[in-house]
Amino acid sequence: AEPRALPRDLEGLRVVISAGGTREPLDPVRFLGNRSSGKQGFALARVAAQRGAEVTLVAGHTDELPAPAGATLQRVSTAEEMRKAVHSAAADADVVVMAAAVADFRPATRADHKIKKSDDSPDPVITLDRNADILAEVVRGRRSGQIVVGFAAETGDENGSVLDHARAKLRRKGADLLVVNAVGDGKAFGTEDNAGWLLASDGAEQVIAQGAKARLAATLWDAVTALIQRRL
Ligand code: CTP
Ligand code: CA
Repeated sequence: AEPRALPRDLEGLRVVISAGGTREPLDPVRFLGNRSSGKQGFALARVAAQRGAEVTLVAGHTDELPAPAGATLQRVSTAEEMRKAVHSAAADADVVVMAAAVADFRPATRADHKIKKSDDSPDPVITLDRNADILAEVVRGRRSGQIVVGFAAETGDENGSVLDHARAKLRRKGADLLVVNAVGDGKAFGTEDNAGWLLASDGAEQVIAQGAKARLAATLWDAVTALIQRRL
């Protein structure tokens, strides 16, 4: 069936969306990576473009996904490359959505040659350096009125539930909105569906029912337009 025409309610809005996972090289053939598929970020870009936004999609490594129609797609690999691309696109954006799974750490050194194993030297130990927090930097440098959205993949642990961690993360990051997905046990990463919560910095909390990633995208863009309306 032909999908129903979407409202063009994001017309005139410049949005930047990051998607997928970054890769942090150890040597010319090896990297530290993660299981992000990029599907949620690509769905956000596709829906935003359909609703009339001018979309820049900064994509790290993803499953093989079709480029969202109407979006400008920029490919990056490492967290540092993603950082530069997001900041330069964010400079004149109205909305920045960090849906990417950015590596928190990178190997402190990158070997120029393939690391070899050897019987007469000890096995290597990987030392990690911390990557910059792109979302926190965007928040710190935000233009007046710019809306910043984060994603959080959380599992509960002995220190708190998924929601406890997410509420604390929203406060810590200073974003306007935080999409919270419960992960682990095959949830969220690489799957077709997402479920979770949408937390706003004013304390509003909305349950996101289990559904297609395009549904979650629609819910998020509705929340963004509501936020813009309230600020006008
Ligand atoms: N993020 C980012 N730059 C990083 C790490 C994360 O911009 N170096 C963004 C992600 O794109 C996401 C949000 O921050 O929108 C939350 O990411 P998450 O990994 O859940 O939180 P962290 O702050 O990295 O905390 P932790 O992994 O320790 O839970
Ligand atoms: Ca992290």
